[in-house]
Amino acid sequence: MSPLNFIFIAFSLIPASLSIPFIVIHGIGDQCSNRGMKHFTQELSEWSKSKGYCIEIGDGSWDSWFKPLQEQADIVCNKVKELKELQDGYNFVGLSQGNLIGRGVVEFCDEGPPVRNFISLGGPHAGTASVPLCGSGIFCLIADNLIKSEIYTDFIQDHLAPGGYLKLPNNIAGYLSKCRFLPKLNNELPEEKNATYKERFSSLRNLVLIMFEHDTVLIPKQTSWFGYYPDGAFTPILPPQETKLYTEDWIGLKTLDDSGRVKYISVAGNHLRISKDDMKKHIVPYLEDDASKPNNVQNFDQHQSDGSVELTIEEGSSSYKWPLPVNNFFGEMLDITRKDH
Ligand SMILES: *[C@@H]1O[C@H](CO)[C@@H](O)[C@H](O)[C@H]1NC(C)=O
Repeated sequence: MSPLNFIFIAFSLIPASLSIPFIVIHGIGDQCSNRGMKHFTQELSEWSKSKGYCIEIGDGSWDSWFKPLQEQADIVCNKVKELKELQDGYNFVGLSQGNLIGRGVVEFCDEGPPVRNFISLGGPHAGTASVPLCGSGIFCLIADNLIKSEIYTDFIQDHLAPGGYLKLPNNIAGYLSKCRFLPKLNNELPEEKNATYKERFSSLRNLVLIMFEHDTVLIPKQTSWFGYYPDGAFTPILPPQETKLYTEDWIGLKTLDDSGRVKYISVAGNHLRISKDDMKKHIVPYLEDDASKPNNVQNFDQHQSDGSVELTIEEGSSSYKWPLPVNNFFGEMLDITRKDH
């Protein structure tokens, strides 16, 4: 048998797909059974020829609002350990709040299978200074102010998932002492930095950070790249490279960046409004095979533009209305705090 034949046979024996699977974690107020999430996962799976799993936490929408993020991360940690298909490693696709849960899994999940590529769409990685989704109605203004004044209390920290990553630059002391999730996730607490979190996070092959240019949900939108306000002020917005998290390399972001593994991507559109073209360009190459670096990024200009995905992900909907139970929760909270004071 000539070497050429041998090579031919060897290649023909390789199964059609060598790619590792990926998981998707949705954002707040959404659930895996929603049409938008199903399409999103299916399309990524079809285009990349990789198996995709939308991992649900509890009942989905409700728990995404009201279960503290550490509990949500623990649930996903257990699920990825149980799913046989993921045991050789997997890629991660996070939507908004789902990215913090995903990072929780990367950093905190003992003996979990390894995450290779981490693709983040609109993730509040450095925190957010606004309550998501409420909008501008009078009720929202009251609730928003109330939450801001009560956010670093045990009650909110126990009952409201976004409490885990609301970071008010004018109350950093409250944030560091009371906020339960993000300070730990970002190794921000001077006395409690854990080298294991950094080691695990910096072992990612690629970190793809997608920011939405017209994001009105994340304040500031640059948090999607780990950019944020300085402590104590709402200006200026620091680029990631000028934050302490980066310069002191608290979680390995600088390590990843120095070795060319961080991709800072900016796409048009509001929060999570990604077009199919941008999905193909910025997500699919990282799901396609187990290679550390995609080298076959196609030229999509030759395809006709197929417009925006119908991501009926609730976060991405134009109405930005809180679902009724969420309204009720805040209604009750308003009552509780009125009685308290
Ligand atoms: C750091 O995190 C790891 C993984 O969760 C844990 O096993 C270890 O005990 C932590 N170390 C400290 C000093 O807290």
